[in-house]
Amino acid sequence: MSEPRRSAHVTGWGRYAPTQVLSNADLERLVDTSDEWIVTRTGIRERRVAAAHETTASMAAVAGRRAIAVAGIDPNEIDLILVATLTPDYWMPSTAALVKEAIGNTRAAAMDVAAACSGFVYAFATAQAYVTSGLARHVLVIGAELLTRFLDYSDRGTCILFGDGAGAVVVSGSDEPGGALGIELTTEPQGAYMIWLPAGGAKSPPSAETIARGEHYIRMEGKETYRFATRTLASTALASIERAGLQPADIDLFIPHQANIRIIEAVAKGLGLPMDRMYVNLDRYGNTSAASVPIALAEAVNEGRVKVGDRIVIVAFGAGFTSGAVAIEWTADPARGIAGDAAVAPEDITVRLPVDWDSVDPIPEALAELMRRPGRVDVPLDDVVPDEPAPIAEEVRA
Ligand code: ACO
Repeated sequence: MSEPRRSAHVTGWGRYAPTQVLSNADLERLVDTSDEWIVTRTGIRERRVAAAHETTASMAAVAGRRAIAVAGIDPNEIDLILVATLTPDYWMPSTAALVKEAIGNTRAAAMDVAAACSGFVYAFATAQAYVTSGLARHVLVIGAELLTRFLDYSDRGTCILFGDGAGAVVVSGSDEPGGALGIELTTEPQGAYMIWLPAGGAKSPPSAETIARGEHYIRMEGKETYRFATRTLASTALASIERAGLQPADIDLFIPHQANIRIIEAVAKGLGLPMDRMYVNLDRYGNTSAASVPIALAEAVNEGRVKVGDRIVIVAFGAGFTSGAVAIEWTADPARGIAGDAAVAPEDITVRLPVDWDSVDPIPEALAELMRRPGRVDVPLDDVVPDEPAPIAEEVRA
């Protein structure tokens, strides 16, 4: 008789969003656009912008520590740390290595995963392989992005879409049934230059010339990307559902990559399901690339949209072109999420800097100038979300 295969369960989840809000009205003052155009064509109303002292690693570490708190384990019980990102702090070391130190883990292996907006789903699938094979007991899977430092604030086709943030889960091995049931990952390299960041790599190392040409910013063929997404997302989700032995109607909630409301509507249509099966929070965060699915997952669970025994599907697409989906039977107590979020404050996390390092201001000048202007709309839509602790009143503080 063969040994029963271990299953991979989500036991912890967490998210972190920077506090600064950039609204569509703010962007109207920077490029030739309008709130009406952005909302109609994308569904996005506002996005978050990391402060100068924040980095991808620092946001990843806050989300990661929150997920570990929800899982109720010690950071040192994590065997592997995976950080999915297209905006790492450095080319090397990996952002995962920095996160390992910041969360107080001394024994995990750590590496980054590069699959653009599909990165979190790819990393989740990698975690599933590690825990079901017995190579790891607990894997910390993080999606984290600081995209606002890689945008051309004169290109209205891209600068309105993206925002910053991080989300994380702990994937744990167990002999109990449930957890990740079916996985599908795809890569279509004919789309390689549809979303790309031309300079900075070995093909085109950074130079005064590449900077002058603006090749250090994200470039995108919006229409081609849109076509790929609407063609692929539903079929990728369907493949993961079929691998799990299920039908689309069996899925209680989809957590799709939060790129564009019209893309999510096309997925619902493609699967023959109503929009209330699709979780949407892109109005508040924009597209946070690899962070979008884990932020949405953590919010959906904390808002009570996911119950024990529910079947959910995480599904994403991104540069590459890549896409991925995992069908999951949820087994963790959703009530654990809110306490976990409150347990870790951003100030508790420090990412060590090199000695004698004199960093330049990381925020692009056009964005920094806009954020300094008086009259900015800076009231987040989710200033009262269920998992956010109530602000401490001044008199109580004093
Ligand atoms: N404000 C006002 N007008 C605009 C803006 C803007 N921000 N951006 C473009 N326009 C104009 C265009 O110039 C065009 O004008 P024209 O007709 O005079 O030429 C018109 O609006 C229509 O432009 P389209 O590009 O056809 O608009 P579309 O409906 O395709 O929407 C969008 C553009 C939102 C980018 C859409 O194509 C999209 O969402 N694509 C997918 C993008 C995506 O998801 N990328 C993330 C990939 S994930 C990753 O790995 C990073």
